[in-house]
Amino acid sequence: MVSPVGAVGQPFTRLEGHDKVTGTARYAVEYPADGMAYAMIVPATIVRGVITGVRTEAASALAGVLAVLHHGNAPRLAAGVDAELYRLQEPTVHFRGQAVAVVVAETIEAAREAARLVHLDYDVQPHRTELSDQDPGLYQPGHVNPSYPTDVSAGDFDAGFAAAPVRLDLAYRTPSYHNSPLEPHASTAQWRDGQLLVHDASQGTLPAQELLSRLFELPMESVRVVNAHIGGGFGGKLYVKIQTVLAAMAARVVDRPVRLALTRQQMFGPVGYRTPTIQRVRLGADRDGRIAAVAHDAVSQTSTVTEFAEQTAVYTRNMYAAPNRRTTHRVVRLDVPTPFWMRAPGYTPGSFALESALDELALACGLDPVELRLRNDTTVDPESGHPFTSRNLAACLTDGARRFGWSDRDPTPGSRREGRWRYGTGMAGSSYPARIRPAAASAAAYADGTFEVRINAADIGTGARTALWQVAADALGAPPQRVRIEIGDTALPYAEVAGGSTGLASWSWAVVRACERLCERLAELRGVVPAGGLLVEASSAEEVAAQATLPRFAYGAQFAEVRVDADTGEIRVRRLLGVFAVGRAVNPTTLRSQLVGGMTMGLSMALHEEGAFDDRYGTWANHDLASYHISSNADVPAVEAYWVTDEDSQLNPLGIKGAGEIGIVGAAAAIANAVHHATGVRVRELPVTLDKLL
Ligand code: MOS
Repeated sequence: MVSPVGAVGQPFTRLEGHDKVTGTARYAVEYPADGMAYAMIVPATIVRGVITGVRTEAASALAGVLAVLHHGNAPRLAAGVDAELYRLQEPTVHFRGQAVAVVVAETIEAAREAARLVHLDYDVQPHRTELSDQDPGLYQPGHVNPSYPTDVSAGDFDAGFAAAPVRLDLAYRTPSYHNSPLEPHASTAQWRDGQLLVHDASQGTLPAQELLSRLFELPMESVRVVNAHIGGGFGGKLYVKIQTVLAAMAARVVDRPVRLALTRQQMFGPVGYRTPTIQRVRLGADRDGRIAAVAHDAVSQTSTVTEFAEQTAVYTRNMYAAPNRRTTHRVVRLDVPTPFWMRAPGYTPGSFALESALDELALACGLDPVELRLRNDTTVDPESGHPFTSRNLAACLTDGARRFGWSDRDPTPGSRREGRWRYGTGMAGSSYPARIRPAAASAAAYADGTFEVRINAADIGTGARTALWQVAADALGAPPQRVRIEIGDTALPYAEVAGGSTGLASWSWAVVRACERLCERLAELRGVVPAGGLLVEASSAEEVAAQATLPRFAYGAQFAEVRVDADTGEIRVRRLLGVFAVGRAVNPTTLRSQLVGGMTMGLSMALHEEGAFDDRYGTWANHDLASYHISSNADVPAVEAYWVTDEDSQLNPLGIKGAGEIGIVGAAAAIANAVHHATGVRVRELPVTLDKLL
């Protein structure tokens, strides 16, 4: 059925935009409740050891302090559920910044001051925090995120590489990165009659509902989690974080609602970050640039608490053709906080390495870098041998080259100069999986001619609520102003997290099926809505499962122009242009924002971001937004994002691929390649800073 207006494809502004900019949209710690108390986490000040004493007298004596919880007095959590969140249960310290106590007080000021006054004695043990690819503790994990095999090979890499006339063997490093969205990890928890209600800053409510029910040994239906508005996540809020558990624990102890938000400093490390990586890429090709052999070996770190294995080399598995291929992942356990998801996990550091190496291969073969990628394009997935459901990488490359004005490029590095500035351009390919997860939705019709669609989706700032509303309007054949959408609550039909660029593709499927079913029921009733309304529910689970194994990806091409001061090495990105194949554009405004946001984050990664780890103290020296540099407006003069027609009938009813992550993939390589073109200096260790150019 087609909407009278055709809402899909229209650039609607966000439904909640007015509420957000006027401050009426409520975030996790903005929900009012009678008797609200405030909690503050006390972080460990050692890296590794055992707590031998907790002195709480000074903190407890402060006016307004209600409780000081630590491993000696905190309520017991169910053991064996989640090692990361099993806090205040044991005296062990696994990493600096680990939550070792919580103060609850009448005001946030009292809680913060009292947290400072809690004194812990430790038996300090030596720590190891330095990532090295020579570490004797390197091991092969059972899988890498989310469930990929660690090592994959096809053909004979060693033989193919040895026989190739052009061979490159290159080493890359990326530092740790920190996703620190404007809204920190934050929760409000309240207990009433054995029921737990949590307003949670998270990319999905189901993980918290399930985890809290297990940790506190409650039936699932006794836990309700709401995340109506979320101030950004970037992967950091994909799973339950410690404040959710500690807010619920504190609320139970003081028998009052409790708000707990991490400080900005607490966002840097203890709750997750993108792991540093050490990567080796080997490329063997013929003189025409056709890749005969590719190997990508990646090393990353995890903690001693749980395993997080970044899928760094997975990008190389599906991107370009090559008969002989091998990818491996190794991990080492260090006395560091556990790394976590951050926008395009694996694909972000992995694409920096592979797309930088391809730039070197193009130069070695005397080929244009766009042409090199076109020569290694493929319609079948090199890993599985199955045809991609859609590809369009070539369309992105050629359209991007045309829009950017690539064709008259002189390939000679370091040959363009205007006054004190050297100029250069660079490019990279881009890709991200188009995954889909099952979901359910309900659709209701009312006698006043309005409709309501409900689904436990999450809008982390992407515009997902608005896009789903557009999808619903078209599926109902109704003007959008007669359709309401409800999301962000475990009381709504089942949907999984806003993560892995799966959100809209997954949720829209269930929304379409629920709306279709409602229309069928209405047709049976000849359009007459019963006085009490008409409600149906539908699930996409069976349909989603039926096509889970198809190789489905979004693609893109990134182009960058930089200038580099010939004397000081100062680097400026003048222009960043990306063209993407991301399926159907449901809302061009919010889609463009996602792509531009991802590209900007890639620019920030290329030039600015770097977790500066100090092994002596076992922590980051830069753990706030004053010292951890991110690109500011002045660093980002012109970012343009476009998309090509990308129809894919094998994806989901609307052919949606998801676009939250792909914008960052390849952006840093395009910029580093442009810096090489400008200066002749190849930087294989991010960020590209001026000291590396002089
Ligand atoms: Mo994304 S790192 O899956 O939120």
